Amino acid sequence: MKILVTGGAGYIGSHTCVELLEAGWEVVVADNYSNSVPAVLDRVEAITGKTLQRYEADIRDRSAMDRIFEENEIQAVIHFAGLKAVGESTRIPLAYYENNVYGSVVLFESMAAHGCKNIVFSSSATVYGNNPIPYEETMPVGDVSSPYGRTKYFIEEILGDLYRSDPDWSISLLRYFNPIGAHESGLIGEDPNGIPNNLMPYISRVAIGKLPLLTVFGGDYDTKDGTCIRDYIHVVDLAKAHVCAVRKLMDGSGLQAYNIGNGKGYSVLDIIHAFEKASGVKLSYVIGDRRPGDLPAFYADASKANRELGWCAALDIDKMCLDTWNFQTKNPDGIH
Ligand code: NAD
Ligand code: UD1
Repeated sequence: MKILVTGGAGYIGSHTCVELLEAGWEVVVADNYSNSVPAVLDRVEAITGKTLQRYEADIRDRSAMDRIFEENEIQAVIHFAGLKAVGESTRIPLAYYENNVYGSVVLFESMAAHGCKNIVFSSSATVYGNNPIPYEETMPVGDVSSPYGRTKYFIEEILGDLYRSDPDWSISLLRYFNPIGAHESGLIGEDPNGIPNNLMPYISRVAIGKLPLLTVFGGDYDTKDGTCIRDYIHVVDLAKAHVCAVRKLMDGSGLQAYNIGNGKGYSVLDIIHAFEKASGVKLSYVIGDRRPGDLPAFYADASKANRELGWCAALDIDKMCLDTWNFQTKNPDGIH
């Protein structure tokens, strides 16, 4: 049973490849390495002791996608490939629509042409915009604050239309909350280029001395300590959710959205303190201005995924920090 993983060399994709291989699936990766390196896949093989098949391929390249489906009998696709930097997406929105939305359409066309109609899509909690918390899958989506977020929303809508046109499709929209952490081995983890935009990679670069100071974006929110609240989820728990979602697709589950989060909210200061405890390093930080577009607080109601996918987050915030720090110290200069 073969799964095609687009973007499989990336942060979440690589952890998912590990879980798929360990669950006994054969894995084919398509990645253009625009935000990753092939060495990550060597490390996936080292962790699992198994091999995967790899294509240096762009999802926007129809002939490259067709070739993968012609050379392999693919049962399902897990679609991670995409650009994900929120700030960048406001500066170069067309690149985001072209890569994420157009690229997804090309991939779906190739799947349809080869009779592969099972897909798990990497969506985001960002599609909920400003809704009451905790977020539930039945809430309205689409009030999104960035072009990046809109690409996720538009792809969800495209998949919805596809399903309504042909109910033979099985489609799982996984709405991730805030993935952090790394594989326990310290061989794979989050390795952003340049200065990180997201909290956890920023913190770990401050802790290792590569960045001088963390700025906490806002200390005057109406939350328990004035800083924003998010639902952080260990990337290994998130990766396992994909294995559960693929299994469910095989039962012909139709079109479903699932929140993949812990269901617990932690403030920025909670994360700083948990990281200090895990690493033994005192972090330098200042409270700065709010970041435009940030919501004060959100977290998941993940009970649908618990119930229907048999999935549950198992790893706590201390483990998330410990594994992030382990990856950072073992790979001070990233993965090459
Ligand atoms: P990542 O950048 O580490 O991984 C994405 C991978 O896709 C990279 O290896 C990149 O080289 C590849 N890629 C990009 N465009 C491609 C293209 N046109 N053709 C082939 N490969 C391409 O990102 P990630 O954090 O692993 O995120 C994976 C997916 O999950 C993304 O779609 C992202 O939007 C979504 N997501 C991520 C988060 C998060 O916090 N990391 C949250 C919600 C949703
Ligand atoms: C962001 C994106 C979201 C995307 C997700 C994963 C925005 C508005 N949202 O979520 O669409 O799906 O990343 O890529 O960008 N923080 C600091 N200092 C920092 C960095 C972050 O205080 O240097 C705070 C933020 O204000 C936030 C929390 O840490 O409260 C988490 O931030 P981040 O990791 O960027 O994730 P989100 O903003 O939740």
